Amino acid sequence: MTALDHQNRQGHEAFAAEMAKRRTGTHVVVPHVVGGKEYFDGELIVREDPGHPSVTVSACHDAPADVVRLAVETSRAAQREWGKVPLSKRIEHVQRAIDHVTDAVEDWAVRTALEVGKTYAGARAEGLEVRDILRCYTEYAARPGAFEDERAADPAGFANDSVLRPYGVFGVITPFNFPIVQAAGPTIGALIAGNGVVVKTSHQGPWSGHAVYEMCQAMDLPVGLVNVVHGADEPGRALAASDIDGISFTGSVAVGQAIMRTFTDGPYARPVIAEMGGKNPVIVTDTADLETAADGIVFSAFDLGGQKCSALSRVLVTPGAHDRLVELVAERASRAVVADPSDADAFAGPVVSAEALARFERIVGQARAEGCTVSGGERLDHEGYFVRPAVVSSVPADHALSTTEHFLPFLTISQVPSFEAALDAANDTPMGLTAGIYTGDLDEARTFLNGIEAGCVDVNVPGHATTGWWPGPQTFGGWKASGSTGVQTLGKWYTQQFARQQARKLPA
Ligand code: ALA
Repeated sequence: MTALDHQNRQGHEAFAAEMAKRRTGTHVVVPHVVGGKEYFDGELIVREDPGHPSVTVSACHDAPADVVRLAVETSRAAQREWGKVPLSKRIEHVQRAIDHVTDAVEDWAVRTALEVGKTYAGARAEGLEVRDILRCYTEYAARPGAFEDERAADPAGFANDSVLRPYGVFGVITPFNFPIVQAAGPTIGALIAGNGVVVKTSHQGPWSGHAVYEMCQAMDLPVGLVNVVHGADEPGRALAASDIDGISFTGSVAVGQAIMRTFTDGPYARPVIAEMGGKNPVIVTDTADLETAADGIVFSAFDLGGQKCSALSRVLVTPGAHDRLVELVAERASRAVVADPSDADAFAGPVVSAEALARFERIVGQARAEGCTVSGGERLDHEGYFVRPAVVSSVPADHALSTTEHFLPFLTISQVPSFEAALDAANDTPMGLTAGIYTGDLDEARTFLNGIEAGCVDVNVPGHATTGWWPGPQTFGGWKASGSTGVQTLGKWYTQQFARQQARKLPA
């Protein structure tokens, strides 16, 4: 499996037919599931299809605090037994979901296309990535020493070891843009480590997020170990304010930092595994292959409408490459097909909501009003939140339009005097998730690798400038404000974060 395998078009016809069928039928109302029972408490939240906002594709209820509390208590009760199950058996349970997930890829793709506007390639990638995460995390956890550290014999004659033991119950709060993967990855990690889990899905993708509950059913886990609640901000707040033992949060820096403050308050600090925003740069220097750079830039800036934490949002380019690069990027962006995911040629679908559309129109208007050169940036003239990607040049690298995370198909290109100035500008942000460089100069590439403050870095990668991190070949995670722990998802050490170490010494 490589990062690109999911881009095949086989099956698109059936996918499009299923989308059409769902658009004419009744929508799915997903329940909260606690202790194996379904609950429909709370105000109804209806999810519109961003490609056809007049169509409702799914709905969930805004979980009230008492349902969230019950979910935590239920996970806690079930975890007492699960925590005693040996690691090898826990791994076996988790592995049972691999076949289910493999079979569910096409069904899940339809959900994410309808709820968050994913194109077929991106939508299939959700399920395929979960499958590969299941394979990787179970394989890594099964390696000798993954959860125990054998120690030297004690000169005083004690038997020693040092082991990883679960915390208890983890909350998992997930975003709209990867509504399945970002719920599934932390859930799998927490379960392998011996914890119970309460998942709070995104209200913009509850049907997609609910897939994680279906995945866990295939694991044949103790009833109530994994509970799922749906809703907007309130259930997330209630979960974060509960007595859970740790939390995995994917979303904005502001919310992530608020959660970290909550989790250091109280009788003792509890772990927060957070993946937050990005303001991801690419540096292009005079010696770069500009065609390759433009291809990678357009893909990473505008795939999924720029609504990825890993998305590229600012290009820093030296003078000899500037004009030609702007021309190449604008030309490619203007050719990118923005269309409903049911169109086999769609490169990107709609942005996620009316709010995202309004924000896009506002910042494009601001860029024009401030004299920047804007290519694209128009709303498409049909139903749905479809926009032509905006390529904004003649904008200083330190302008707010270039330094604020927009999470939209909005790319700034800033000319900088030198490679060194580009590197300074790239690091001049609290964020540090992904970054890339296109250069023909190996010394520049080395200086970039050693100087850039980002968790995931690309050098001259064709096709992707900052995105495309896949379980198996890569790990993924941010530095600075983009991440909380420095240990990345997808990697060999990820699952262990859901456990705490205990050093043991007892008479031999
Ligand atoms: N896996 C996503 C990417 O690499 C976040 O772009």
